[in-house]
Formats: sequence, structure tokens, C-alpha cells
Amino acid sequence: MHLAMGDARDLVTRAGTELRERGRDAYGNLRTAADRASNTELWEKLADAARDAARSGRSASGMRLAAAVGLGFLAGVVLLSSKKVAMQASSAIAGDWFAQLKHEHRQIDSLFETVCETKDDEGGKREALLGKVSYALNRHALQEENVIYPALRDTDQGASSKALAGEHFDMKTYLHELHELPAEDPRWLSKMKAFRKLVRQHVRDEEEHIYPAFQSRLSAEQNAKLTKAMNREGVKLA
Ligand SMILES: [Fe+2]
Ligand SMILES: [Fe+2]
Repeated sequence: MHLAMGDARDLVTRAGTELRERGRDAYGNLRTAADRASNTELWEKLADAARDAARSGRSASGMRLAAAVGLGFLAGVVLLSSKKVAMQASSAIAGDWFAQLKHEHRQIDSLFETVCETKDDEGGKREALLGKVSYALNRHALQEENVIYPALRDTDQGASSKALAGEHFDMKTYLHELHELPAEDPRWLSKMKAFRKLVRQHVRDEEEHIYPAFQSRLSAEQNAKLTKAMNREGVKLA
């Protein structure tokens, strides 16, 4: 079975919305499976989760849709890198653009938590985790900088948009410095902790102040349009 990338993505987004409406358990199981698949490439687990979700669905259309999600993911793997599909699918299932970004904030913070627990003699582990932090943050920033911040700039929150973009630049500077510093260096961890502090404050501003105010002024149609545009950006960074 072959699905075009756009069709697979739309299918996942629609299924996520429908499953969320039909039951938190089914939605949670599917999202967990998508997260796990992105780490271990155990795609069959994702298909199983979709089938379980279908069984717990109350309508025939929900069942067909959920089953199709599993097939859609698997077909997507044929066309795209598994990482790309899983990352985007995991976010898309989380809901609209704001819910998706919040979901990614949690994923990024959990990576930070793991890396902040490493010791100076675990240089290899630190480098691997830094690569993951870097990928997740860059992908997240691409969506915000190319879609959300420009839309925000068209409102009276334009100053916030510029400030947030400036903080992204600071984050990229931290990433560069951490890549440059030997991972066994005793200064590495304190730099990483300062980096995490900056990201956490930035996330708090987005989640508690800037995004809720922005979203409250958008119509359902504008929100949907923004979500679609953001998903298109998300798949660009493999
Ligand atoms: Fe941001
Ligand atoms: Fe963000």
C-alpha cells in the first residue's frame, strides 16, 4: 500500500482528532506507540495500537479510521524516513498547533532531564543525547519561526514574536557551544543546565502568556489553517 506523504499526514491528523473525541485511552495509547516507534522503529506496535484503538472505538467509521492510521504509518515508512513520519505523526496526533507545540515542549524537556543526569565520564552518551536535543529543538523552532511567529507578528503581539525569535537564536548559540566543548569537560553540564533553564522560561512564556492570548483571537478556521501550515513545515526537517 502506498500513500502520498500529504495524504498520510492528513489521515493521521484526522484520526488523532477523532480518537481524541472518542476516548482519551485510545488516543493516549496511540500517541505513546507513536513516540515509542520514533525511538525503536517498532512499527508493528504502532499498527497494533491503531487496531486496539479501533476496537475501543464506538462507531464503524472510527474503527475504519483508526485501522487506517496503522496502515498509513506503515505505508509512510516506505516513502519517508521512519524518524520523519514518527515525529510528525506523534505531534499531529496531539491536536491543533498549540497542543502539538506543547507536546513537543514535553518531549524536549524530557530529553533535557535525561542529559542533565549524565556524568562527566559519559561523554559518548552526552553527545548522542545532544544530537537528539538538537534535532528536536531545530524541528520545533522551524515550525514556530516559519509559521507561528510570522502569524503572531501580524497581531499586536508583534514584539513578543521578535523576542521569542531572539531567544531561539540564544538556544542555537548554546547548541553550538555545547557541540564545541568536549562532552567530558566539567563545564559541559553546567552549560547544559543553563541552556535548559533558558528553554524552560521560553516555553513558560509561550504556553502561559503568548500562545493562549494569540489562540483566543483566532477563529476555528484560522486555527485549522495554522495547524496545517505548521505540519507542512514539520516534515521538512528529517
Ligand atoms: Fe519557541
Ligand atoms: Fe515552543
